[in-house]
Amino acid sequence: MKKLLSIVLLAFIVQRADAQDDPNMGIIPAPVSVKKNSGSFKLDKTVVLVSADAKNSRMSDLLNSFIATKGGFALRELKSAGENDKSIVLSSAGADQLPAEGYQINISDKNITITGTEAGLFYAVQSMMQLMPEKKDEQIIIPAAEINDYPRFRYRGLHLDVCRHMFPVSFVKKYIDLMSQYKLNTFHWHLTDDQGWRIEIKKYPKLTTVGATRSGTIIGHHPGVGTDNKEYKGFYTQEEVKDVLAYAAARYINVIPEIELPGHASAAIAAYPELSCFPDRDTFVDAKTPWSGSRKGKQVQQQWGVFDDVFVPSEATFKFLGNVLDEVIALFPSKYIHIGGDESPKEYWKESKFCQDLIKKLKLKNEHELQSYFIQRIEKHVNSRGRSIIGWDEILEGGLAPNATVMSWRGTEGGIAAAKENHDVIMTPNGDGLYYDHRQSLSADEPTNIGGLSHYSKPYAYDPIPKELTPEQQKHIIGVQANLWTEYIETPAKIEYMILPRLFSLSEIAWTPTARKDLKNFSEERIPVHLARFDKTSTNYWVPTPIGQADTLQGETFKIDLKTPVHGAEIYYTLDLTRPAETANLYTNDLKVIVPKGEKRILKTIVITPSGKRSVVTETVLNNGAPDVKSKS
Ligand code: ACM
Repeated sequence: MKKLLSIVLLAFIVQRADAQDDPNMGIIPAPVSVKKNSGSFKLDKTVVLVSADAKNSRMSDLLNSFIATKGGFALRELKSAGENDKSIVLSSAGADQLPAEGYQINISDKNITITGTEAGLFYAVQSMMQLMPEKKDEQIIIPAAEINDYPRFRYRGLHLDVCRHMFPVSFVKKYIDLMSQYKLNTFHWHLTDDQGWRIEIKKYPKLTTVGATRSGTIIGHHPGVGTDNKEYKGFYTQEEVKDVLAYAAARYINVIPEIELPGHASAAIAAYPELSCFPDRDTFVDAKTPWSGSRKGKQVQQQWGVFDDVFVPSEATFKFLGNVLDEVIALFPSKYIHIGGDESPKEYWKESKFCQDLIKKLKLKNEHELQSYFIQRIEKHVNSRGRSIIGWDEILEGGLAPNATVMSWRGTEGGIAAAKENHDVIMTPNGDGLYYDHRQSLSADEPTNIGGLSHYSKPYAYDPIPKELTPEQQKHIIGVQANLWTEYIETPAKIEYMILPRLFSLSEIAWTPTARKDLKNFSEERIPVHLARFDKTSTNYWVPTPIGQADTLQGETFKIDLKTPVHGAEIYYTLDLTRPAETANLYTNDLKVIVPKGEKRILKTIVITPSGKRSVVTETVLNNGAPDVKSKS
């Protein structure tokens, strides 16, 4: 009995020591600096919450409602603290000396002072909420520390494609909440594409009465094994857009709308065929493509991919796009308006007499220069309204528009070239793990996805500042973004599965200085805590596979040393080739597997969280010198 008690006690001490040992106090993204001090602040219901400045009361309310949920008590909110009050004080005094969006938290035995400008205080409160341990005996014991924090990049973005699949306003708000909890500040809202136009434009109602509906969607991975024959439709009204913008602004998130041009325009062309080089030509649909309904006339696309029918560079098109952009600009306060520019095939422009005559008239060399002309016309319009354009890196081809910011997605080369031309750049290279539509493991258990592999460690390893640039040129890298294209993402739950925990990696590379990044601490100490919190809510996520080594061999014994990647989750395993589940063996950290010389075993593991979420199954070959069957044959 005594022995059992001491083991339990030891486990308790080890666990507490673990949490307290985390040099980042459980915060994602890791702060610029955390200095631990001795002692602790005992948060209980006698503590007062002080905010002298009315404009900061929103932040103290946010903190207080969190404390109420976590601690079961709400604090008294005051304008100033009495001499003997134990207090948490939010203040903007001196905050103008801090870096933009920066904050400081000072935790002592007597009080906690939190300093920042509005956005800084908002981020400080996010950090406070993350660092608070669980309540014990009506107290939350917060270790003493000084935190000094500010972002590495001023642009910290996450994108969402609502065209391939559409998501309700309530979920867009949840997406914004997740972003703000992890200190991202830019939501790139991809609103128009071939498979649906998703924003109300009052001057052109057919964009949504026609362009927001497709008659079906392919089933399975492109090119698909059939069509679901289901009408798919939806768009955001301007009132809904305003609601989202207000929600985002309250969380210090700027929303950048994307209106795609000149390519990815099938939905707009289905609504207004005169925007095409060939208004009378049917939308091209390969005979083998699964299709629902008519194949005649202009159609909203039901297939994924890149399509030849793009905007014709006519005066009528520029007038249309100018009017569309004017309504968008009137809605969105963002300095930046994203105008797409990617994946615009030149086939129709090559075939079109109008386009070829225009190339001659404007003395352009080719269709790439025509695209550059197109983008520059749009840029002039957007600039004349006091805004700036962002375009995907194809806008470099044929010459960059003078004031454009480039979003480098096909790699980093576009971003490097643009920075060398003194243009601002946002890095979102698809080969460096920032395409969150890519799968998170190679397991066949992964749901249908676009392909590519991006385990969260891949974006975590990415540094958005290219070494090729001089320090002066590096200043043009204003930030980093991850993209979420939704061809294979039909539901909010699948969005959550695809962005968590990769959102944490994005957060850390966007905010934390490179020298402070630490994959081990991130994977083993912080991710498990954050995912365990999501496990208690209705938020889905990708469950990481077990952390650690399974293949250390001593004599005939493999020592299996695994850690759970989600606090509170269990690891189950089999050694008999069956698929592990709750009914399999429960892993404990003294697992040893004896494998006689010349033999091997396959260890299969699965992680199952308290709410029942499951990781993919991993397989590790425990090989004690067994002959390699493949090399024999
Ligand atoms: C893109 O992924 N086509 C920008």
